[in-house]
Amino acid sequence: MTRLILTAALAMGASALVAQTTFVIQQPGFPLWAYGYIQPPAVPQDWSNRCPGTRPRDCDRPGGLPADTSGALMKLAGSDRTFTIAQITSPYSPADWFPGDHPPMPDIVAHGKEASGFRACAICHYPNGQGLMQNAPVAGLPVDYFLRQLEDFSTGRRTTADVNKANGFEMAAMARNLTPAEARAAAEYYASIPFKPWVKVIESETVPRFTATVNGLFMKADGNDTEPLGRRIVELPISTRETNLLRNPRSGMEAYVPVGSIKAGEALATRGGATTVECLTCHGKDLRGTPVAPPIAGRQPSYLGRQLWDFKLGTRNGVMAKAMRPAVEKLTTDDLMSIVAYVSSRQP
Ligand code: HEC
Ligand code: HEC
Repeated sequence: MTRLILTAALAMGASALVAQTTFVIQQPGFPLWAYGYIQPPAVPQDWSNRCPGTRPRDCDRPGGLPADTSGALMKLAGSDRTFTIAQITSPYSPADWFPGDHPPMPDIVAHGKEASGFRACAICHYPNGQGLMQNAPVAGLPVDYFLRQLEDFSTGRRTTADVNKANGFEMAAMARNLTPAEARAAAEYYASIPFKPWVKVIESETVPRFTATVNGLFMKADGNDTEPLGRRIVELPISTRETNLLRNPRSGMEAYVPVGSIKAGEALATRGGATTVECLTCHGKDLRGTPVAPPIAGRQPSYLGRQLWDFKLGTRNGVMAKAMRPAVEKLTTDDLMSIVAYVSSRQP
């Protein structure tokens, strides 16, 4: 029997086999919004093997950050510093607009390791750890949780479910190439900065018309058009210019969520239901974390939704991931959305 199928597959030829490759992001019910897609990309790519060695930056997808066109010096309200776009997006020394907002950055956070193509943590997570929808909010995470995640990334127990998500694989490659001292310095640094309110959650029937960058950041389109929101969450920078061009680490997000979803999510998060269990016992009454489980209140809904789906699909399977099984194994896309609307609307 096995042999028959194999023969048939060989007879169909290699091209037929390639055409059969399906990406998990193309499956029905996949929460595309949490992974930064409006539609699944027409030609998804597999980035899981592109940065296997010691150069994490081999997974840096071209076109992710705005290019420098003018060399003009940019300013930001409240900061006395000026930077060119090239300096703002410098992989090994990204602009730090507000050095007074955080303690001195360890070298690995501010600069990474240029000789080995290892970008600064701050280029993705920001100097203050607030992070963007396509990466993660790392400010205020407990040191032991933070170090466990780096360990899970480096052993391959934690990967993104989306093989097209290049930055997820760059993150894992960085974790594999950190020394224990660098990992600890980064963990202690980000743990010392409280996570600040960052996402304004808005219940709405519609959302401003928007586009997506190759790295999975949604941005408002020009003009004032809106489109129906439907059953999804759309997280957008409050100001495209401040976030995507100037990388202002004080300018946050707004998240459009369906009308009624916060209340529905509250019921699930506080009491559980047919598809999930309540979250408060482990994550704390205010969802601000306990010695058992990390803080989740007020964090980016895209990030939270992506993690829940990664836990569900089992690609996030770190040493402590089993605790999350009952919360996710029967979880539907729609209940995930409501839970995340509620959790991200809470005060961090
Ligand atoms: C290329 C961008 C990028 C850089 C640079 C980067 N990260 Fe990340 N990081 C990510 C992404 C993307 C995720 C989330 C992956 C996902 O959603 O599956 C992440 C997640 C994390 C998490 C997990 C957070 C959580 O709540 O579980 C930690 C911890 C982390 N990064 C630490 C670091 C440290 C330390 C550095 C520097 C040594 C660093 N990152 C550099 C992209 C980056
Ligand atoms: C039995 C305890 C337990 C319950 C119940 C639980 N969690 Fe968790 N949760 C954990 C633990 C432990 C982790 C850390 C897992 C790891 O280290 O990978 C976690 C991690 C997470 C993360 C990832 C955070 C990050 O920064 O990446 C999210 C999101 C999350 N939980 C949401 C929820 C939600 C929402 C619920 C309720 C529907 C819930 N959890 C119920 C224990 C629990």
